[in-house]
Parts: sequence; structure tokens; C-alpha cells
Amino acid sequence: MHVHFALKADLCFSNELGPDARSAVDAAVKEANGRLFCKGVPRGVPPEEIGRITLWDVEENILFLEIESGGYTRAHDALFRFRKLIGSALGKHHLGLREIRVREFRVTLTGDVMESAIPRIPFIQSVKCDEGNVVLDLQVTTQDLENRVPDRIVKLIEEKVQAAGYGGKTEHWELLYESPKKERTYTGNPTDEMAARHWIRHGSSRGQWIYGPQPIQLFRAFTAIVEEEIIKPLGFSEMVFPKLDTWDVLSRSGHAKGVYPEIYYVCIPKTRDPAFWEDVADYFKVTGEVPVEMLRERIDGPIGALCYAQCPSFWPFVQGRTVANSSLPVKIFDRSGTSHRYESGGIHGIERVDEFHRIEIVWFGTVDQTTRMAEDLHGAYTRVFNELLELEWRCAKVTPWFMAQEGMVGACGCDAVGTTDYEAYLPYSDAWLEFQNVSVNGDKYPKGFNVKIQSGEECWSGCSGIGLERWTAAFLAQKGFDPAEWPEAVVQRVGTLNEVFRFL
Ligand code: SER
Ligand code: ZN
Repeated sequence: MHVHFALKADLCFSNELGPDARSAVDAAVKEANGRLFCKGVPRGVPPEEIGRITLWDVEENILFLEIESGGYTRAHDALFRFRKLIGSALGKHHLGLREIRVREFRVTLTGDVMESAIPRIPFIQSVKCDEGNVVLDLQVTTQDLENRVPDRIVKLIEEKVQAAGYGGKTEHWELLYESPKKERTYTGNPTDEMAARHWIRHGSSRGQWIYGPQPIQLFRAFTAIVEEEIIKPLGFSEMVFPKLDTWDVLSRSGHAKGVYPEIYYVCIPKTRDPAFWEDVADYFKVTGEVPVEMLRERIDGPIGALCYAQCPSFWPFVQGRTVANSSLPVKIFDRSGTSHRYESGGIHGIERVDEFHRIEIVWFGTVDQTTRMAEDLHGAYTRVFNELLELEWRCAKVTPWFMAQEGMVGACGCDAVGTTDYEAYLPYSDAWLEFQNVSVNGDKYPKGFNVKIQSGEECWSGCSGIGLERWTAAFLAQKGFDPAEWPEAVVQRVGTLNEVFRFL
């Protein structure tokens, strides 16, 4: 895809530009076109690709400019370079630059750009397609240009064109390891069996379960195994991460690029004043129904989402800081609450829920420290699944979770960065269930949250999500409900199953 930028702008000065000022402008334009705009441009780039002032004129206190460019010293970059130059050139004539007004900003894209790749956002005023060109007229302020809005729009269109090229392609998936096969002793569906035994019951919300004492004994046994075999020996410390992620967190984490169909949104009351809410409460008292429409008018936000990926809300803890070498690699984990995803419709078992429980392990340091920790974790998990839980499982390199959660498919450019999914075999459905992952997330989080390390080296991070519902689903699907058939490591930690509820 080739891109061409053209802008028209008025530079408003504090006073009328006289003949002397005019010649200063002339000299500045020559200097800009001849030298200033070529700075940093590689040799051999054709001149029409480089930003240049194609027209200028003066009327009273206004200097009118037309700038065009291809991909080098883009028209708006050229404008800002020129702003500095002309500012000091006319300063000598006692003229101060007061304001820049962008009159027109046109982006012309040449190549295979389908209409659906053009975003529907307010900056794009009109779209015209002719003879293989797509012409976008943008409505932008100087501030928007400083925020690189045109560049971001072009990048977004490139991404959309590329994503359409993936069309139909599935997520990346590449087998890394497969455990020995296990004897199949049980073929039931664990959710059905747990529900029949009243170990679990649907909560009142979508994709939500209330867990009785018995499955929680399993959750806690698995947590104990994770603690004893992974968290303690590898030296992770417990923290508590917030469970409400603001737009700021989700913007820095990249989730704001695409997670909208899958999050639970969080709103806040417009005011704490009870009088403001009295009619709502009265309506309920009289009808027994919560008046949702009345609520809509009385709430602000959404201000963010309920915890979705669990690790992003940790990062503000170190945001803007430089971490000492003696702290590296930082190794922490959180198991303080639920994660929430608006899953696709239908009723699923505990392996696919809107509200779930996960231990989230996070680490960061140098590139080497980060990738080595991922390997150590993989080693520890392999031992746990093979020797303690005795599962039939496999793992595969997949589309990194942070890409998937931004709505992207395919692999990530760099081999060392990515997600390994751990999958367990489910005899009842003859399918594989992803029950946890380990990821090296590269510099994405340290960059997004502006975290540095003392040595000045590149900082990388990783995370690993251990889904307790999914461990339970995988374990019960393979091992069944008779503790006599369970591996010793689990039986020991579960103890006797608590039958608290009996019903008439
Ligand atoms: N944060 C990662 C994820 O959401 C690991 O739990 O998959
Ligand atoms: Zn994570």
C-alpha cells in the first residue's frame, strides 16, 4: 500500500507580514525543502516521497502553506519542522507564531484497500474511491497532528487489510509436547456429574456457578500443589491485584484495541446523595422490580471493566519506576479474585464460564531472566501434570494471548515472545481443553506502563494463568469421582469430601 499526504494550513502571526518577512519566508521555504525535510531520510528515496512545501502565500498576518509527502518526513512532520524554522526566522522580524489552523488534510492510499478496512471514526470526513486510490479527507486539529492521528489511521487501515488477508485462517497452533496416553477409566461429563451430586449449582448470573464445599476442596488441593511445587520453589511472592480495570489500564495493556464484546462493564452512580435515588428505591418497594431504565439515567461511566486478564492491573504498581537489579527478576502472583468474560452464548460446563477463578503468576526482568523463568515454569508444570496429577495433556505454541485479546490472529513476529497453551484431554467429548498458559510477553507491559530496569537493558515480562475451574474440569473428566482412583498427591490434599448439604 502506498500512502500520500497533502495538507493545507494557515500559520497565524502576531502581525502583518511585510516585504522583509516575505523574503524571510521565501528563504525558509527553500531551506526547508532543500535540507531540513531531507534530514534523516535514507539515500535513494525518490524526492516525491519526501515532505515538501509545494505552495505558499501571505495575506496580512497569515502564512498559507501547502505541504505534500509520501512516507518520508510526512506532511504533518514537515509542518512541525517548518514551524520551528519559521518561528525563529520571523521572530527576528518581531513576528510571533500564534496559531496553526489545519484547513485540509488529505490521505491518498494506493493499493488493495477494501472499503471495509476504512474505520468509521469522526476524524474521517469523507472517503472517495477512484481508480485504485482511496482518498480520505480528515478533519484534524494541530493537536491531532501532534498526536500522530493520521499515522495511526494509516497503520490501522494497514492492520485491517492484513487481518482481512488472514480471513478464515485459524489461530496459530503448533504442538510442543505430548504426554504419554492414559488409561480411560471415566467418560462422564464432570459438570453434569457435579451438578447431579449438588457439588455445584448455577449462580443467578450468566456463566456463573456457586461452588459447594467439595469442588472447593479440589480447588484448594490444586492451589496447594501450585504453591508447593511452583510458587515456593521458584520464589514467587503473593500480591493482591485490583479487580476493576480502568480504561487507562486497558489502554496501556492493549485491551482497548479490541476487547469490547467480551468485557463486563463497570458503571458508577452519578451521585451518592440518597435523595437522588429515592424514587428508584420507592419504585422497587412498590413493584418488587428494579427499574433498570431509571438506573441508566442515574449512572456514569462505564469507567472500565471487571478483571478480564488479571495481570494488567498489577502494572500501575511499578508504573513510571526503575526497578533495582537486586529485585530482578520480580516474581509475584495473585489469586485474590475472579476474572470475568462475556462468553459466547449457550450454557457451558465449568470449563467455559463468565466468572472464573485463576492464579495469575507474573514475572519480569531482563530478556534472559524472563525467558528462563518461562522455561523453569514449563519444567515445573510438566512434573506436576505427569507425576502429581497424572494427566493426559499436551502443550502448543499459540497466538499470544495479548494478541488474541486485541482481536488478532496468527503468530507473533518474534520467536521468543508468545504463549504456550496447556491442554488436557477430555474423554467425554473427545476434545482438548486449554486449562492454563505460560507466556513471554516481550516488552509490551514494561513499555505500556513505562517500567525500566536499572541496567538500562530491555525489560521483558511474562505471565502464567492457572485456571482452577479448568484444572478441576480436566482432572475430573480424566479421573472421575471415586477418590480411590485419584492420584495420591490429590487425595492427600483433598482429605475427606465434606457432605455439608443434604436435601429433603
Ligand atoms: N493474562 C493471561 C491471560 O489472560 C494469563 O492469565 O490469558
Ligand atoms: Zn497475564
